[in-house]
Amino acid sequence: MSFVVLVGFMGCGKSSVARSLARRLKGRSLDSDMLVERAAGVTIAQIFAEQGEEEFRRQETAAIQNALQYPSENEPQVLATGGGVVTREENRKLLKAARRKGVLVVYLKVAPTTLAERIRRQPGVRPLIDGDRVLSDEQTLARVEQLLHERSPLYKKVAGLVLETDQLRPYEIAAKIEEHLSETSQTTLQT
Ligand code: S3P
Repeated sequence: MSFVVLVGFMGCGKSSVARSLARRLKGRSLDSDMLVERAAGVTIAQIFAEQGEEEFRRQETAAIQNALQYPSENEPQVLATGGGVVTREENRKLLKAARRKGVLVVYLKVAPTTLAERIRRQPGVRPLIDGDRVLSDEQTLARVEQLLHERSPLYKKVAGLVLETDQLRPYEIAAKIEEHLSETSQTTLQT
């Protein structure tokens, strides 16, 4: 049964793709940010502001661990992760272990200019970009480029499939992932 994990930078479309793909697969979508918020009873911005990033990361790891333990025999699942999930070694190990069990980890790769543009459209919800002050377009792009430089090797490392998705809409990305899943299950059947 398919289990897909989506990784990638803030604004790359993980949550929308997760919902679209889950609909196509007739399964369910999970979102680690939402799982954290639900468990904590406050928003991510509040967790960052009141308890700090380290505490948020601890809660994020717990949410992912929990979600990955949940593979259902009958129901496909798609998990959208927060953009910083790859920064913790523990999380990278969890994703690696999940891949060994057949989970498909997909990196949704998007150019920094596109990411910065999308992030600018939702000001104040991403503590690591514009949590403490309003940023200009140039400042947002510089912050995205800096973080992406650190993270992009990690996204590539954890992923079994990398998709460049700048020009694609969520349902088109979901269709590509579905296609990949059916091709790989065909290969498995043939071997
Ligand atoms: C973060 C990304 C956010 C959220 C938190 C930290 C990051 O999720 O988990 O603000 O470190 O990149 P999205 O990628 O869904 O925006």
